[in-house]
Amino acid sequence: MIDNGKDSLEEITASALSKNLRTRWLGRKHLVFDAVGSTNEVLKELAQEGEPAGTMVISDYQGEGKGRHGRRWLAPPGSSLLFSILLRPKWAPENIQRLMMLAGVAAVEATGQETGLQLRLKWPNDLVAWEEGTSWRKCGGFLLETDIEGHTVRYAVLGTGINVNVSRDQLGELSPEATSLQVETGMELSRLALLGAYLARLERLYDLVDAGDIPFQKWRSLLVNLGRPVRVELPGGSPALVGTAEDVNHAGQLLVRDSQGKIHAVAGGYTTFLS
Ligand code: BTN
Repeated sequence: MIDNGKDSLEEITASALSKNLRTRWLGRKHLVFDAVGSTNEVLKELAQEGEPAGTMVISDYQGEGKGRHGRRWLAPPGSSLLFSILLRPKWAPENIQRLMMLAGVAAVEATGQETGLQLRLKWPNDLVAWEEGTSWRKCGGFLLETDIEGHTVRYAVLGTGINVNVSRDQLGELSPEATSLQVETGMELSRLALLGAYLARLERLYDLVDAGDIPFQKWRSLLVNLGRPVRVELPGGSPALVGTAEDVNHAGQLLVRDSQGKIHAVAGGYTTFLS
C-alpha cells in the first residue's frame, strides 16, 4: 500500500508491470496503452489472431469503455485499473460463468490484502463496498466476452474495471452511485501493487479450477444479494421473471424462485435486485 501525493500518481509501464508480476503465465505477455477505445475490443481482435492464453491488455484510459448491457464504463485517465485478460479454458461452455466467480474472489482477496477493505460481490459481476449508513456501492465490475463454437470455448476475454484513485468529486460527475477504493480508504493506492496481487490470485484460482477445485463456497459467501427479491428480463421478449434470488449453483448461475415456487437458473440476463 502506498500513500502518494497527487503529483506522484503512479504510472503503469510495461517494465514496472513486469516487476510487479508474481505469475507464471497470466499477464506475462502484456500490452500497455495510454488510451484505447476498449481493452476488451483490442484483446478480442488479438484473440482472433491467435494470441496465447494469459495475454493482457491494459490502458490508462478508455474512450469507449464498455460495461454490461451496452452501458459505458467511465474512469478518469490514470486513475483506475482497466484491463482485459485472454483465456482459453478447456471447460464446457455452460461453465464459462465460473470465470466471473474466479474474478470476483480474486478481486476481493487482492483488495483485502492491498487496502485492508473487506469488499463483497453483487451477482453477477459487481465488486461492492459498504458505505456506512447507505448501501452497497459499486467500485468495480467484470465484463466477460466469449467466442464459443459448439462444445468448445475458442476464447474468453475477461475485462476488469476497478475504480482506484477516483475522487468523490470525479465520481459525482461520472457515476454518482459508485465509489472508489480511494474514497473507501481515504488513501491514494498503488494500482500496480493491486494488479500484481489480483493476477497472482486469479492465476492460482484458475489453475485450481483446471485441477477440479472450484472456489464455489468462498464466492457464494461473498455475495450480498442472496435471499433478496429480484427481477430478470429474459431474452426473446418472454415476460420478466420476478422472484427471490435463492441461491447460486456451481456453474455460477443465479437460482431464482418464482411465485409458484419453481426454481429458474439464470446465467446472465438483465437482473435488477428489488431491495
Ligand atoms: C460492468 O460492471 O458493467 C462491467 C464493467 C467492465 C469494465 C471493464 S474496464 C476494462 C474492460 N474493457 C472494457 O471496455 N470494459 C471492461
